[in-house]
Amino acid sequence: MLLKVEGLSKDFRLRSGLLGRSSRLHAVKDVSFSIPASGSLAIVGETGSGKTTVARIIVGLESATTGVVQADGAALSPSPGPDERRHRARMMQMVFQNPVLSLDPHQAIGKAIHEVVAFHRLRPPDQCDERVHELLAAVGLDVKLGASRPQNLSGGQCQRAAIARALAAEPELLVLDEPVSALDVSTQAQILNLLADLKEALGISLLTISHDLALVRQLADDVVVMCKGEMVESGTVDDVLSNPQHSYTRRLVAAVPEIMSHSLPVTSPADFGGHDIPGDLGGS
Ligand SMILES: Nc1ncnc2c1ncn2[C@@H]1O[C@H](COP(=O)(O)OP(=O)(O)O)[C@@H](O)[C@H]1O
Ligand SMILES: [Mg+2]
Repeated sequence: MLLKVEGLSKDFRLRSGLLGRSSRLHAVKDVSFSIPASGSLAIVGETGSGKTTVARIIVGLESATTGVVQADGAALSPSPGPDERRHRARMMQMVFQNPVLSLDPHQAIGKAIHEVVAFHRLRPPDQCDERVHELLAAVGLDVKLGASRPQNLSGGQCQRAAIARALAAEPELLVLDEPVSALDVSTQAQILNLLADLKEALGISLLTISHDLALVRQLADDVVVMCKGEMVESGTVDDVLSNPQHSYTRRLVAAVPEIMSHSLPVTSPADFGGHDIPGDLGGS
C-alpha cells in the first residue's frame, strides 16, 4: 500500500474563557483506510466532520492523538524532524481549498515552483528554469505567466499554479482538499479534467476531499464517508453511490439527479402505461 491510515484519532483541546477550563473536541475518531499505488480515494462528509484534519495529519501538518500513518509500509513519525519532513514533502504534497491564499502573494508563481524543484534537488541548478516551464505547461499555464503574482491571476490559474508547485516535488501522492470548491462552475470542470489527465499521465495516487459527486466519480476509485469525526461508510465509489447506506450519503446522492439515474430505471414511454407522455416530460 502506498498509504495506510490506521485508527487515526485527533482531539483538539479547547480552552474556554474566564475559568480557563479546557475541554476536548474529538475531531477525528478511529479512521482507517488505505490507498494503493496509482489508486485514488475520496473523503466526503459535511463541514466539520474532520476531513481536513485527516488530510493535515497525513501530510504532517498536524499530529494525530492516536493512530498510525504508513507510507510505503513505513510508519511516519508523529513529530518528524527536518529530514523526515523533507522526505515526506517529497513523497506527498497537499493542494489547498483556496488557491489564492495558498500561494505567497509576494512571490511570482514561477519562483514558487522553482523553489520546490531546487529544495529537493530534482534538477541541476542550470536546469531548474526549464523544469519550471515544463510544470507550467503540464498544468495548462502559459510559460509567460510564471512571472505573475497570484493576485494578477484568476482563481483557476492560481489553482493550476498550486498544482504545478505540488507536482514539482514529484510526489507519489497528491492530497487535494476541496480543490475546486472555491472556483466558479466552468473553471471547476476544467480543473477536474486537468486532475484526471494528470492522474492518468503520471500514475500518481490521489486523496481528494470533496462534496462534489461529479469529482468523486471522475477522480476516485474508493470513497470514505465521514460524519462527526467518524467513518460511517466506505467502499468503492460505484458500490457506495449506487447503494448509499448513511443518511448523509443518501442526501448527497439524491441532490444530484444524474447520479441517481445510474441506479434507478430510466423513465421510458412504457412507464406511462402507453398513455400519451405528459407535455412537460416528453422529449423535445
Ligand atoms: N486547530 C484546531 N483547533 C481546534 N479545533 C479545530 C482545529 N481544526 C479543526 N478543528 C475542529 O475540528 C472539527 C473538524 O474540522 P475539519 O477537519 O476542518 O472538518 P472538515 O474539513 O470536514 O470541515 C471541527 O469541529 C473544527 O472546528
Ligand atoms: Mg475542510
